[in-house]
Amino acid sequence: MTIMKRRKFEFEYTQKDFDFLRRLSNTHSGIIAENDKFDMFYSRLVRRIRALKLGSFKEYCDYLVENKDTEFTLFINAITTNLTSFFREKHHFEYLKDVVIPELLINNKETKTVKVWSAGCSTGEEPYSIGMILLENLPRNWKVSILGTDLDTEVLIKAKEGVYHEDLVSELSDKTLKRWFKKGAGNNADKVKIKAELRDIMHFKMLNLMEPWPIKNNFDFIFCRNVIIYFDKDTKEHLVNQYSQFLEVGSHLFIGHSESLHMIKTDFNLIGKTIYRKVS
Ligand SMILES: C[S@@+](CC[C@H](N)C(=O)[O-])C[C@H]1O[C@@H](n2cnc3c(N)ncnc32)[C@H](O)[C@@H]1O
Repeated sequence: MTIMKRRKFEFEYTQKDFDFLRRLSNTHSGIIAENDKFDMFYSRLVRRIRALKLGSFKEYCDYLVENKDTEFTLFINAITTNLTSFFREKHHFEYLKDVVIPELLINNKETKTVKVWSAGCSTGEEPYSIGMILLENLPRNWKVSILGTDLDTEVLIKAKEGVYHEDLVSELSDKTLKRWFKKGAGNNADKVKIKAELRDIMHFKMLNLMEPWPIKNNFDFIFCRNVIIYFDKDTKEHLVNQYSQFLEVGSHLFIGHSESLHMIKTDFNLIGKTIYRKVS
């Protein structure tokens, strides 16, 4: 195997280090890192090397093995990609309003409850956006409950807090801002916080999609967007078939803009742009 020492890096970092780290990440999280992620791994992990006052990536790999209990979560947190935003992929939220909610109003009229799962929820913008649409369009006496899960424990802390820099909500309408966010004061003047009414319907939990899921209830729909893009075909197929077990026939699964279930054997039919309906 060629060992490439890339001079531009402050800390020694070889192909062997990268292979070790990406294998570890793949086994644990399903995330596949191709060779083009070499530099990305460096920039994500160099912070850990500095914080631990280590001298090279080899030392970091050894440290990881010897201190798995304390370092492994921090390693995984560092390499996940958490990009998200409020109402990302707007058409999904229009579809919720125009199709899913009218169906729920009929199908769930006895229970008056709606249960949703946002799998790979990152810092919370996705589940909060779903919550806004549901609370705005369902009768007030309905009970909405949204489970937001992620592998990365740091993003979950942020999601639970529900505090965002004002730049992250600058695209939202004044009406939405007024309805769902509280403006910060003093040192937090450049931040907004999700109002309690919306935070109260959220349940944020650490859940690794590659491990058994401690989930008992069915959901009315599931969002798993921009997560499976990092997985191989077999993992995708396994995951999507597991989602199917938590949905009734007729319920929806939403995936990300660059993802597809094409060539994957599932119970779902594509019925719109990255929107699937369970058919059997
Ligand atoms: C790019 S973000 C997508 C956030 C949001 N769903 C969206 O589309 O805006 C992908 C998220 O999936 C999470 N993730 C990756 N692998 C995971 C796994 N094996 N189990 C649970 N979450 C995972 C990452 O931590 C990250 O927060």
